[in-house]
Amino acid sequence: MHKTINDIRSKKEKGEKISVITSYDYSLAAICDKAGVDILLVGDSAGMVMLGYENTIPVTMEQMCLFTNAVSRARKNSLIVADLPFLSYQSSIKEAITNAGMLIKAGADAVKLEGGSAMADTINAIVDVGIPVMGHIGLQPQTTVLSQGYAVQGKTSDSARKLIEDAKKVEKAGAFSLVLEMTAQQVSSIITETVNIPTIGIGSGAKCDGQVLVLHDLLGIYDKIKPKFVKRYLSLSDDIKEAITHYREDIESGNFPKEENSFSMEEQELQKLMRDG
Ligand code: KIV
Repeated sequence: MHKTINDIRSKKEKGEKISVITSYDYSLAAICDKAGVDILLVGDSAGMVMLGYENTIPVTMEQMCLFTNAVSRARKNSLIVADLPFLSYQSSIKEAITNAGMLIKAGADAVKLEGGSAMADTINAIVDVGIPVMGHIGLQPQTTVLSQGYAVQGKTSDSARKLIEDAKKVEKAGAFSLVLEMTAQQVSSIITETVNIPTIGIGSGAKCDGQVLVLHDLLGIYDKIKPKFVKRYLSLSDDIKEAITHYREDIESGNFPKEENSFSMEEQELQKLMRDG
């Protein structure tokens, strides 16, 4: 049986850290799952790292369902949370419930949506139909980026107060956990101590109950932006480029394929073919 939202909640109670990584496809999701990560987040960052969009705005429900479905076929142990993309939950609560349900049908165990107090009724309505929700405040790539760019959140006492208020509202609305993106670490720390649900930080300091990174950032296969908070564990784009260059050179020099990479017919069948045409 894979992890449940209760397992994630109880990690905070026990003071254990929660590991989250984004996943979008079958092969890499299987590796992340085997590595023992608590949550596979099918983030709408897929729009950037998988589809090459400038930001997450163009991502559709259809695309999110496809990624979620692929990840769900690979998962054995982790919990799967899928992002509701831009405009799939803001226009009406009915639409939010329908779209959250579509992600669950595609294989997610829970959905994530961006927004604080303004999204409380929507979170509450989705939770009421039995779908677990992960909140997301601080930098909200679907909206904050349009007005402020990639700015750190909670740097003034007023904005910090608003974030703390938002976190409380998201918890009260029934969310089982809360992403804090690019939030000043002091504010993340206060929120983590204030709410009972686990906080998952990205660029929000070490005091959060868990951490999330975009898989492609961690592996070093997405070079367009490299935020300060990313820790690169590999430089895979260099390794992959080297391997593919080697492959091309092998083809050009006749070094690939070799006998061991080829299939043969029986000698007597070959003779027959040559003789009878
Ligand atoms: O889309 C995403 O990958 C996310 C994480 C960065 C939290 O929302």
